[in-house]
Amino acid sequence: MNDTTRGKFITLEGIDGAGKSSHVAWIVDFLRARGKTIVSTREPGGTPLGEKLRESLLSEAMHAETETLLMFAARREHIAQRIYPALERGDWVVCDRFSDASHAYQGGGKMLDRRRLSVLEQWVHGEGSSQPCEPDLTLLFDVPCEVARQRIALAGRHLDRFEQEEAQFHDRVRHAYLDRAQKFPGRFRVLDGEASLDAVRAQLEKILVDFGA
Ligand SMILES: Nc1ncnc2c1ncn2[C@@H]1O[C@H](COP(=O)(O)OP(=O)(O)OP(=O)(O)O)[C@@H](O)[C@H]1O
Ligand SMILES: [Mg+2]
Repeated sequence: MNDTTRGKFITLEGIDGAGKSSHVAWIVDFLRARGKTIVSTREPGGTPLGEKLRESLLSEAMHAETETLLMFAARREHIAQRIYPALERGDWVVCDRFSDASHAYQGGGKMLDRRRLSVLEQWVHGEGSSQPCEPDLTLLFDVPCEVARQRIALAGRHLDRFEQEEAQFHDRVRHAYLDRAQKFPGRFRVLDGEASLDAVRAQLEKILVDFGA
């Protein structure tokens, strides 16, 4: 893949209710208005097989390692079928959650061995190949767990298997995300997700322009 024509890979991360999905359409419109061709997708999911796995992952009880392996299996398919070909065409990819979510939920939340997660990540991202599939920009929507919980309650929607976890679980997930942001400052941008929707958009606009969108 030629680096000058390769598209950019943008991921959105944050705990449940942080505001990721609320901003996806705006980000896509903003980038399209600036002449980019966009593939908008999400995890788990993004392919027909991935969406089937998503249904199980969000509703069926399973061992934490089974959950992790299925997440990465869905991701392998997603990269192979959609993300990598899009980037290769020069399209930009906007993805609602990616591997940082596995580090945050399965690593932080479920306290799985981080080294195992890294092995799976390197395998599935194609590390060691000429062009591994790594995000170029990761937007972390950071909010206190209590705020996120209240938003979800206000929206009154059905809670999936992860959203039903206890408060301490979400706190561990939030802090695992913040640890990732510290570890990879080059690609992470942390947004104050507690701000109003308009204020979050203003933060996003500045980040995207600085990024070269
Ligand atoms: N900045 C904000 N101020 C007020 N309410 C917000 C803000 N951002 C999102 N919300 C509301 O919070 C709720 C959760 O937001 P959203 O669905 O975007 O979160 P999410 O990060 O995609 O969560 P999940 O991981 O569960 O999909 C929605 O009802 C949304 O309208
Ligand atoms: Mg969402």
